[in-house]
Amino acid sequence: MTTPLTSSFAQKLHGEIAVPGDKSISHRALILASQVIGTTRISGLLEGEDVLGTARALSALGVPIKKSNGEWQVNGVGIGGLHESKTPLDMGNSGTSARLLMGLLASYPFSTSFIGDVSLSKRPMGRVIQPLEQIGARFESQNGTLPITLKGTATPLPLAYRLPVPSAQVKSAVLLAGLNTPGTTTTIESAPTRDHTETILEFFGFNIERSKDGDGNRSASILGQYMPPRAEWEIKVPGDPSSAAFLVVAALLTPQSHLLIRNICINPLRAEYLNILRAMGGKIEMKNKRMMGGEAIADIEVHSSTLHAIEIPEHKAPMLIDEYPILAIAAAAAEGKSTMHGLKELRVKESDRLSAIVKGLYGCGVKTKSEGDTLYVMGKKEIPGGGSIKTNHDHRIAMAFLVLGMISKSPLTVDDGSMIATSFPNFVALMNSIGAHIA
Ligand code: S3P
Repeated sequence: MTTPLTSSFAQKLHGEIAVPGDKSISHRALILASQVIGTTRISGLLEGEDVLGTARALSALGVPIKKSNGEWQVNGVGIGGLHESKTPLDMGNSGTSARLLMGLLASYPFSTSFIGDVSLSKRPMGRVIQPLEQIGARFESQNGTLPITLKGTATPLPLAYRLPVPSAQVKSAVLLAGLNTPGTTTTIESAPTRDHTETILEFFGFNIERSKDGDGNRSASILGQYMPPRAEWEIKVPGDPSSAAFLVVAALLTPQSHLLIRNICINPLRAEYLNILRAMGGKIEMKNKRMMGGEAIADIEVHSSTLHAIEIPEHKAPMLIDEYPILAIAAAAAEGKSTMHGLKELRVKESDRLSAIVKGLYGCGVKTKSEGDTLYVMGKKEIPGGGSIKTNHDHRIAMAFLVLGMISKSPLTVDDGSMIATSFPNFVALMNSIGAHIA
């Protein structure tokens, strides 16, 4: 069922709010809690469809997971403790669920089938199949896309894998396969990607080491088949910076706005967009900085600002990868021509985001083009809007354009907002509670 949504001009946005838990950390908290012996209590877990898909998959693999008194409880089965699922694992729209679970299950000696929605079924899985085959797993698929059957190996081999694409999902798949593999499994990346897997592995006391060489290459090595001592754990998932980004940009662009967004993960590999928006002239402050479970957290205060164009170099792409749709909206309202380089990976997200951004902005009266992997956006003082945006099952395209509607002369419609539930289930209600008009 599709749910069209229309966003109209907002006078101002005002409030003190929190956003749902971080999606990447939520997936990893569930997955790694399943691999220890003992109970992990998780609060603030993102209850979006993507993460619920991971929880359902782990349950199907024999992990007792329940929610009580607002907290999720995972009774870990330990390394090697998962059982074959009787049914295919439905990964819905979630690339993270699919790729991380393929990694985890590659070193289990049974078969698992993975299915997903139309969007996920077009996304490349070859990037995880390739290293996991080197570990000894086998895959049955057509063209490296879902549906896929993974035949895990009973005799996994440790791998040292240099990532050919900057992808935290690929890195995580290899490290998770390493959990049930004898010896040391290593990943090496030349462009740093989000490191929540490494941080949560450290949090649980797995045998992981990280290092960085003189050329900036980062390595993570996990000693497999090592079980941390039985214990009780508690994880508080911080707010998702990628979800907060929609609120931050909405407040910057809407006149007379002031927002305080509490408890946001500001891991430097995730919060780079705040630096970009600041460099564009955004009045953004990080307050009350603190550490929680190995992750940096802060409250983010935003005031409406006049933005100017920016050029973003390719090497920053892995740190901004989920924020380009909303950064393009910021660029559309900024003075001057913005250029964003190295956006190749945007083509294989929940949709071809590069094409969706260009078509969507163009349809709303903003001159935009892409050449190769570079995006150009000509900022405009007044955005005509009025466009109808094709979201292609992509939550971030839907949310980004709903933000554009808040500053457009004519209301803007997205063809389907249902996918927003994958990452930010209360997006519309939260936006409307601070002054937006989305219906
Ligand atoms: C994620 C990694 C990124 C990101 C995705 C979540 C993760 O994907 O776009 O939303 O949790 O590991 P890639 O690894 O494909 O870059």
